[in-house]
Amino acid sequence: MDRLAIEGGKPVRNKLLPYGHQWIGEADVQAVIEVLRSDWLTTGPKVGGFERAFADFVGAKEAVAVSNGTAALHAAMYAADIGPGDEVIVPPMTFASSANCIVFQGGTPVFVDVDPDTLLLDPALVEAKITPRTKAIIAVDYAGQPCDYDALRAIANRHGLTLVADACHALGGSYKGRPVGSLADLSAFSFHPVKPITTGEGGMITTDDPGLAQRMRVFRNHGITTDHRQREQQGSWFYEMVDLGYNYRLTDFQCALGLSQLRKLPEWVKRRQEIAQRYNTAFAEIPAVRPLGVRADVSHAYHLYVVRLDLAKLRTTRAEMFAALRAEGIGVNVHYIPVHLHPFYRERFGTGPGLCPAAETAYEQLITLPIFPAMTDKDVSDVLIAVSKVMSACCSQ
Ligand SMILES: Cc1ncc(COP(=O)(O)O)c(C=O)c1O
Repeated sequence: MDRLAIEGGKPVRNKLLPYGHQWIGEADVQAVIEVLRSDWLTTGPKVGGFERAFADFVGAKEAVAVSNGTAALHAAMYAADIGPGDEVIVPPMTFASSANCIVFQGGTPVFVDVDPDTLLLDPALVEAKITPRTKAIIAVDYAGQPCDYDALRAIANRHGLTLVADACHALGGSYKGRPVGSLADLSAFSFHPVKPITTGEGGMITTDDPGLAQRMRVFRNHGITTDHRQREQQGSWFYEMVDLGYNYRLTDFQCALGLSQLRKLPEWVKRRQEIAQRYNTAFAEIPAVRPLGVRADVSHAYHLYVVRLDLAKLRTTRAEMFAALRAEGIGVNVHYIPVHLHPFYRERFGTGPGLCPAAETAYEQLITLPIFPAMTDKDVSDVLIAVSKVMSACCSQ
């Protein structure tokens, strides 16, 4: 396959098309500049403004802004009162943070396998892993598709568990007409540049419970009950640290960027869905390239577009496909190495191959193709041309 770029002459693209990319417009730049010229760079009015707009957007009562998606998950684990001895159920087909947040609080992640078609946490497998120590379930809306929240809610209610959504991929998606962010007790979001909207780094937790929101506001501010601006307004120097917290604050200029980005999100999700539809139509003709299953009751936010390769049919390896597509200028990626296979988890928790067979099998076959709202129709065509060029090279070997 390495012969491809040489024998095939020119690659489809000279400059790599990334798998995901931010889209920053002039309004975003102006929004940030305005805050940079104001008195409040952090703990100022834009934080509450972004939180309110975000909560309204997802139909939640409260939103708490934090410095990144990992901090959002950590705050959610803190709000759920996870501590040493507690077990939390989490799928392995995700970024490490989804499980790391449990360990930050001294808890134990219990990996439960995914549905082989959607790669979302399989509710049918959850109940068997619940023990008297189980305290929460983290559902990961992998690639942007919301999990089966009715099924997970029923399990959580039956066992008195907190239901947490790792919705870092799924902002703008919905389940049975209900927006992501309103489906779990606590929902965590990321605003990393490849995510649905960006603040550079950033995160948010949504909840309908004002008590949990208040707990997380203290947690993101060192465990201190008032912030700098509140003390200034009160004309007081006094503060109390009531618990061990972190500096997980999001700045005002980041919140201004988030507010500006949020206005564009509905259009961006539509564009992602359009691109996914073009891919789906093209791959319907190619049995060796299988898009992941999408349930009929969701609106998929398509943070990622992931396909499974039938490597036997293609007579190649995933590594060769990956290298050949990269050589064609297509910035493919792999999401994810199942978390329970990482050395840290193997060593600390004794996890390893065989624990979650559906995720492990899928991992060997997955490849992520570029999808982001600023992609042009020509960009999408380039991806499809590159895939068919690479495939015909494999099949003619
Ligand atoms: C599913 C998932 N959870 C959590 C995170 C962590 O978000 P952040 O990078 O903002 O800390 C990511 C980001 O990569 C993610 O993809």
